[in-house]
Amino acid sequence: MNLTLNIWRQANPTAAGAMHQYHVQDISEDMSFLEMLDVLNEQLNEQGEDPVAFDHDCREGICGSCDLMIDGQAHGPEVTTTCQLHMRSFKDGQEITIEPWRASAFPVIKDLIVDRSAFDRIIQAGGYVSVNTGAAPDAHATPVPQADALKAFNVATCIGCGACVAACPNGSASLFMGAKITHLGRLPQGQPERDERVVNMVAQHDHEGFGGCTNIGECTAACPKEIPLDVISQLNRDLRTAIRNGH
Ligand code: SF4
Ligand code: FES
Repeated sequence: MNLTLNIWRQANPTAAGAMHQYHVQDISEDMSFLEMLDVLNEQLNEQGEDPVAFDHDCREGICGSCDLMIDGQAHGPEVTTTCQLHMRSFKDGQEITIEPWRASAFPVIKDLIVDRSAFDRIIQAGGYVSVNTGAAPDAHATPVPQADALKAFNVATCIGCGACVAACPNGSASLFMGAKITHLGRLPQGQPERDERVVNMVAQHDHEGFGGCTNIGECTAACPKEIPLDVISQLNRDLRTAIRNGH
């Protein structure tokens, strides 16, 4: 495949960015999207040009760092991570536009890399449970109903990629936050800090500049882990309960 790429280039967080056009040849349809960008960067290196900066780590759909807006869609035309997106989803001769996540809470560091540390600060605000140290308790000491275990496990698959924020017209991180709150709120270990957790996480979310949820649903449609919209309802229920309890 031969492709034309329009890529956002920005030298640093304060520099003015612009779209630049590149051409890549002989791209196999079996390559991942990131491998296609590796080919472009080898080409740029050979030409003595600055390679395109993009984020990645596991390349297995686990770490959530390969955040790219491809033709206006978070992670591109398939519901998956960019590292799991293959070039067979594109056509020979296609022109592809590649941009960083667009959200004020995720400022651009360089080219296609954004700073997602706002998510880390939301987790620091409440995405944890406190446990006593000592010997591990017996597995059957804290029974968890199967329905709760399944729900907690399903929403624990959130990888913190930020596609939900990038896809949301409000730049809201409610799906991400709802996944964490639902995960811990369905388990006995998450009960002691449940009220405090939701209040602190929502306060940090707002402080970081993420927008509010208006039930559009773009977040769940873009989520590579299929986190459902009902986690946001759970978040809102937990928040109302916490406020009623005086938090
Ligand atoms: S909820 Fe989905 S889209 Fe949002 S951070 Fe988690 S895995 Fe990514
Ligand atoms: S590089 Fe880790 S999820 Fe894509």
